[in-house]
Amino acid sequence: MFSKLFGAFGRKPVLIQGAGKLPEGQSKRVEIGDPLAGGVEIVLARTGGKLCAVDRLCPHEGGRITDGPLVNGKYVVCPLHNYKFDPTSGRAVGVACSDAKTYRVEEDGGDARVWL
Ligand code: FES
Repeated sequence: MFSKLFGAFGRKPVLIQGAGKLPEGQSKRVEIGDPLAGGVEIVLARTGGKLCAVDRLCPHEGGRITDGPLVNGKYVVCPLHNYKFDPTSGRAVGVACSDAKTYRVEEDGGDARVWL
């Protein structure tokens, strides 16, 4: 248990240059590494002034959460069945579904650091 706990604290963030410039109500897809070789695809979203990161893998049936304008300025969406997710928490909105995976984000000037 302790190694798991310390491992979580010991992780190094990934710097995403220019991510801090994402406007309110918008989202942007970011590939970190090669997704076919263990990399991760995330969607950065800004809502309520806060920059958030959500994994692109939809917890419903494996679709991919898309980027672009947020629905109602708040939610990212998976176009496969149009499920909406709150990028601040990963919670599905108005449907019974597991949460989307979210990541810790800190803004640093015009850049952002994401803990995967
Ligand atoms: S697979 Fe994403 S909404 Fe169904």
